[in-house]
Amino acid sequence: MAIRKIARLGHPVLRQRAREIPLDLIATPDVQQLIDDMQETMREYEGVGLAAPQVHESVRLAITADIYDPGTGNTLLLAGKVLVNPEITFLTRAEEAYWEGCLSVPDLRGTVARPREIAVKAYDREGRKVEFQAEGFAATVIQHEFDHLDGIVFLDRMRDLKSLSFIKEFERYVADAGNE
Ligand code: NI
Repeated sequence: MAIRKIARLGHPVLRQRAREIPLDLIATPDVQQLIDDMQETMREYEGVGLAAPQVHESVRLAITADIYDPGTGNTLLLAGKVLVNPEITFLTRAEEAYWEGCLSVPDLRGTVARPREIAVKAYDREGRKVEFQAEGFAATVIQHEFDHLDGIVFLDRMRDLKSLSFIKEFERYVADAGNE
């Protein structure tokens, strides 16, 4: 396994539409290695999710860590996933706003409102079909990662930029104030 270099905003790979992974290639050493490396890279940089374009691989693959409720900090919302060629369906138009950050947009946090309930269809690292639903912060993380597969970053989803903060100031003026 290896920690991969993270593509930062401005790198064209972050603005491309990633290509699908043919299902018969999921089991190949190249794809399995990419998944292992993404998991190690996500852990190293303490990300809650990572999409392949963020490690300079323009393919439709995203992973998440175990996702916990940011309010309580210890309620598991969704166990970690490996998602190949994912498709998303919005189950509601109701939105919820959360603070987001991104390893490719280092040092910044901003609030983004997104649909609060989604259904996901994808393939796992064994090439098996997976289907599940997610809501709240887990739905936000999944949408954030899938956006990367279409060349979209969270800044594009902010309806205004007033909440945009550096992490240090966010921790000082927002997190400490108890806002979520
Ligand atoms: Ni991101």
